[in-house]
Amino acid sequence: MFDSLQALPPDPILALTPAYRADPNPDKIDLGAGVYKDENGNTPVMRAVKKAEQTLLAEQDSKAYVGAGGAAGFNEAIASLAFGETLKQSLGERRVSLQTPGGCGGLRLAAEFVAQANPDATVWVSDPTWPNHRPLLGAAGLEIAAYPYYDFDSHSVRFDAMFESLSAAAAGDVVLLHGCCHNPCGADLGREQWREMRDLALDKGFNVLIDMAYQGLGDGLKEDVYGVRLLAESLPELLLVSSCSKNFGLYRERTGALSVICRTGPVAKAAMSRLAATARANWSMPPDHGAAIVQTIMEDDGLRADWELELAEVRDRINGLRAAFVRELATAGVERDFGFIEREKGMFSFLGVTTEQAESLVRDYSIYLVKSGRINIAGINRANIGYLVRSLAELLGS
Ligand code: LMR
Repeated sequence: MFDSLQALPPDPILALTPAYRADPNPDKIDLGAGVYKDENGNTPVMRAVKKAEQTLLAEQDSKAYVGAGGAAGFNEAIASLAFGETLKQSLGERRVSLQTPGGCGGLRLAAEFVAQANPDATVWVSDPTWPNHRPLLGAAGLEIAAYPYYDFDSHSVRFDAMFESLSAAAAGDVVLLHGCCHNPCGADLGREQWREMRDLALDKGFNVLIDMAYQGLGDGLKEDVYGVRLLAESLPELLLVSSCSKNFGLYRERTGALSVICRTGPVAKAAMSRLAATARANWSMPPDHGAAIVQTIMEDDGLRADWELELAEVRDRINGLRAAFVRELATAGVERDFGFIEREKGMFSFLGVTTEQAESLVRDYSIYLVKSGRINIAGINRANIGYLVRSLAELLGS
């Protein structure tokens, strides 16, 4: 019966990594998958993570099951990080959180939960959005619609068009917003725009699902959750997916969480039983190791301080690279204004090249980027920035 199956095209992001590894060109540059790289092109294990692992190795005395909802200590730590202690307290029993296999697990769980509550819900995703959003959310059986988000000419958020489009969302629909460091464009909503989104959600009665995969990589741990906290304190319901892949560097450990805010405590209790049962039917229990690391860090003042410090180093390096890249392009005589790259946040920006130009960068220059022209800024370093800028100058004809 398997003979009827046709092979699918490779994943547009993940396929770049093996292609890069196999490329013998010594000048090759990996600006593909959203994985942080340091100045030497390595993706290090964070210092606090290493120490927490040593603690776990010495002290963990059982590998018995934890449960479908994961570790309570991790769930509370991740909710505190997202909402802050005061708001978390005031949400009280209206908020539940559940450990998931990465942010992807959280998104899928959120979609299945929405499908149980309202099978007719349409999920609205930004145009453009992370390519995995549609398959992840759509596989739960929900209809997906797109709202305009990024203007490739002005390199900014098309807020008026977004607002107008989402004015057509029905009560009970779900609008997916990126919490910070929009993937793929790096252009985030401003504070006033978040307030307008809140008012629109209240006015139209749609629900908001926030995907927060980059807390701490934009402006700071607190600054990056302005929108999350605003919506959590003012909307009757909210879904929030947190990922620890990037800010804890735990990619392969698949560590994330889904938090759901409901109108009342009893509804949240019912929601939790649904979420746990849905998790059980999918993966039974989330993997433990990454969550145990995060919990260990968050419950130890010293480790937490060192984690925050290293995260600030990561953030500062990315923001410094953004500025250096824009500067070097101008110095090389590239006429096009790339100043937007310096204003955008997180790991990603669009270079603003055509699909053909993106393909040429991979094929002719061994510079690996997503076909959409998205680059991972963290893949740039002092050793490769010269080659990158020279190649772009040649490609863009300046
Ligand atoms: C990315 O967007 O490159 C990352 O989130 C990695 C992934 O899973 O696609």
